[in-house]
Amino acid sequence: MNPNCKKRMGAIRLEVMRVISQEEIAPAIFELVLEGEMVEAMKAGQFLHLRVPDDSHLLRRPISISSIDKANNQCHLIYRVEGSGTAIFSRLKADDFLDVMGPQGNGFDLSELDDYCKVLLVGGGIGVPPLLEVAKQLHERGVEITTVLGFSTKNAVILDDELAKYGQVYVTTDDGSYGIKGNVSVVINEFDTKFDAIYSCGAPGMMKYINQTFHDHPRAYLSLESRMACGMGACYACVLKVPNSETVSQRVCEDGPVFKTGTVVL
Ligand SMILES: Cc1cc2nc3c(=O)[nH]c(=O)nc-3n(C[C@H](O)[C@H](O)[C@H](O)COP(=O)(O)OP(=O)(O)OC[C@H]3O[C@@H](n4cnc5c(N)ncnc54)[C@H](O)[C@@H]3O)c2cc1C
Ligand code: FES
Repeated sequence: MNPNCKKRMGAIRLEVMRVISQEEIAPAIFELVLEGEMVEAMKAGQFLHLRVPDDSHLLRRPISISSIDKANNQCHLIYRVEGSGTAIFSRLKADDFLDVMGPQGNGFDLSELDDYCKVLLVGGGIGVPPLLEVAKQLHERGVEITTVLGFSTKNAVILDDELAKYGQVYVTTDDGSYGIKGNVSVVINEFDTKFDAIYSCGAPGMMKYINQTFHDHPRAYLSLESRMACGMGACYACVLKVPNSETVSQRVCEDGPVFKTGTVVL
């Protein structure tokens, strides 16, 4: 095993990964390709906890895994520059190194889906990236995929072409500058298809809508965000409440980030 890759706490590893490339794919949105041994353990929907290469930033930053290339030991991350940490990531160049903890969290459950199944993917803004690996893996199994994406405006649209390789894609924008005007509910409320599974990731309002609309669906999943500190289940910075309980909570980093609809309070 590479000496840079240490196993810790069971499945979570610490590794210094190599930057293969970085490209700005939309204004302030970057695609970072990393190479390292931990790719072999990655699952769709998990995230990496990245150390900001600057000693004044103590907390790692969580970023979802967008796609996984096990043959080449590479993974892709797609992130938006929000504050100083992600701004520093955006300056990384090929052959730089990045201190990575992961792969972390429970990803999307893709089991028991085959070529008889129809699946709905719903993504919003910078929540779209983790759905790409889901689409890729389900498409390989022959699953019929319908994707509905929502963005604020045309400039923020990402991955619609990539996802179109795996099935039909509907794009909505809040201001109507691209695709259908409105949010994803405008499209989803019109469907009369019975989907075998639903996978979603997006802004809090979109997650609430999916949580309510597919509350009783046995295979509907939300990938959620919260502020994180340790990123490995120890500090309880990232907890969500569970319906009908004042005492039980769920940690986004360790119990999530993917939850079944109806299992957490949004
Ligand atoms: C499980 C998970 C997956 C994520 N995946 C992606 C992704 O694929 N692409 C992407 O662009 N963003 C993603 N985010 C959000 C990303 O972590 C934040 O945008 C990033 O941490 C902001 O860091 P900053 O230093 O630039 O911003 P600052 O605002 O300076 O950050 C200050 C602090 O707040 C935390 N923070 C700020 N915003 C968030 C947030 N939305 N979620 C969690 N912590 C936050 C930072 O980690 C840091 O500790 C994800 C968040 C979570 C929890
Ligand atoms: S961030 Fe520490 S428990 Fe989740």
